[in-house]
Amino acid sequence: MSAKPIVFQKISDMRRAVAQWRAAGETVALIPTMGALHAGHVSLLEASRGKARRAIVSIFVNPTQFAPDEDFSAYPRRLEADLARLAEAGCDGCFAPDASEMYPAGFSTKVIPGGPALAGLEDRFRTDHFAGVAQVVAKLLNQAQADCAFFGEKDFQQLAVIRRMAADLDIPTKIFGVPTMREADGLAMSSRNAYLSPEERARAATLSRVLRASAEKIAAGAPVGEVMAQGAREIEAAGFALDYFEARHAESLAPAASRADGAIRLLVAARLGRTRLIDNWAVK
Ligand code: PAF
Repeated sequence: MSAKPIVFQKISDMRRAVAQWRAAGETVALIPTMGALHAGHVSLLEASRGKARRAIVSIFVNPTQFAPDEDFSAYPRRLEADLARLAEAGCDGCFAPDASEMYPAGFSTKVIPGGPALAGLEDRFRTDHFAGVAQVVAKLLNQAQADCAFFGEKDFQQLAVIRRMAADLDIPTKIFGVPTMREADGLAMSSRNAYLSPEERARAATLSRVLRASAEKIAAGAPVGEVMAQGAREIEAAGFALDYFEARHAESLAPAASRADGAIRLLVAARLGRTRLIDNWAVK
């Protein structure tokens, strides 16, 4: 096993290390996470290797992106296991602040994202979610002052929101999206998969199966509307409560009725028991 990453609990300690690395001519990547690290997170770290000499993974379960009825308190927290995983993967630093470091008494600034944050996908079901994400990511990018930052494509709308926010606020950190890591049966890796019962887990790969089949049909020229309606029926027949199954323009996230509208991304969110799963697939 490699050396454990240096753990920074204070913004000032992380900044000092980043400044030293940069003074030595080294570039720095930030990988923001909420912990409970899995192979998907490790793939973000690996993607950073081609772009920066040093990598910092931040671990912070951000309270401002959870609604009161969501899983903030139940969200898995396992710092020691995460640090062991980062040591194995090779990582220079882990920023693990507590809530008072991120949101000290008197904190009162909000970031209200527009554009892709209002696409009518996740935002329809999680009203203030992207305001919380934009707020914490803006803070993390400012705190780390890294050259580049890496986010998973699994949260496709989140990635679009972060790109827009960083561009709009003139944050110089370059934002990279990294393709989704999947289990052997196609289920997108997610810390929330841990909530699935064995029986739900067996059914959960329906989402990626339907996404993939629908993307292939659209790529082969089938009408988008018909393909999506059939896919939605299949997802519901597998016992999911469907929040949305949508074909969207891959960049603007505007509804896409045909391939003539440009590159299409299929996006889904559905609940299986108490677990809400999201996933997406490119039409190629
Ligand atoms: O994708 C996540 O894990 C979180 O939304 C992020 C980007 C770390 C912000 O808390």
